[in-house]
Amino acid sequence: MRIVIDTDTKQLTEYLNGRPRALELYSKEAFQLISHLWLRVGWNEKYPYTFSWMGRPIIQLPEDLIRIQEVIYEIKPDVIIETGVAHGGSLVYYASICRAIGKGRVIGIDIEIRPHNRTAIEAHELSGSIALVEGDSIDEAVVARVRSLIKPDETVLVILDSCHTKQHVRAELEAYGGLVSVGSYIVATDGIMRDLHDVPRGEPAWIRDNPAAAAEEFVHEHQQFQMEQPAWPFNESHLTDGVTHWPAAWLRRVSGPGS
Ligand SMILES: C[S@@+](CC[C@H](N)C(=O)[O-])C[C@H]1O[C@@H](n2cnc3c(N)ncnc32)[C@H](O)[C@@H]1O
Repeated sequence: MRIVIDTDTKQLTEYLNGRPRALELYSKEAFQLISHLWLRVGWNEKYPYTFSWMGRPIIQLPEDLIRIQEVIYEIKPDVIIETGVAHGGSLVYYASICRAIGKGRVIGIDIEIRPHNRTAIEAHELSGSIALVEGDSIDEAVVARVRSLIKPDETVLVILDSCHTKQHVRAELEAYGGLVSVGSYIVATDGIMRDLHDVPRGEPAWIRDNPAAAAEEFVHEHQQFQMEQPAWPFNESHLTDGVTHWPAAWLRRVSGPGS
């Protein structure tokens, strides 16, 4: 694809297979196209690796953090489960929202919680709202340990941010989907990988091997869930689509186990 941006004529021209498509530069369509390219360049430049939350590195795109904050405030879960801890920034972020709401705690699972990260998370002001479980997120003993930390009638939100292969995310969806409360979500993050297969730091296999593919397959086979981008509580623009690393990520539980 070739894109020509002319700020004098206020036009963006996209060439697909050599055929031009002209867009108004200051338009929703041009914003979407530029945003998509910005996401790809930003991912390659490790833009999400430049943020921290209350002292801990957090590896997320800020827009995704704001969007999930909107969902947490709406659902007010008792428990937020996240697979993939890394430095603990996202656990601290979710815990800080829970603390501000006055409700909720966080369970973080990681195959390897490095000692310096564990020490920092356990010493953090919000550590009282965070439980850590070390092990492979799809290991039955790990899933059982997580289940044992949740009471039967608690409202649960699940975020999957560990190993992003389709196979692993598919297995996580099976392992943790049953814990999600009706009306809440399981979020398979980083589906953006499907659009990164041809950027310098990407891999060709990601075009099929990605979390979005796992989520689409899971939702097809589980009628208790539907793919549903949460509605924006505030929108005074004419935009409708997020600038996100989490496309095809949000699976809302619409019914209980027997339905
Ligand atoms: C992208 S990082 C998590 C980032 C973190 N959620 C944040 O927002 O800052 C992915 C983490 O998943 C962990 N991980 C990889 N494979 C895993 C597995 N099979 N089970 C559990 N955790 C795994 C890695 O050790 C790594 O810390």
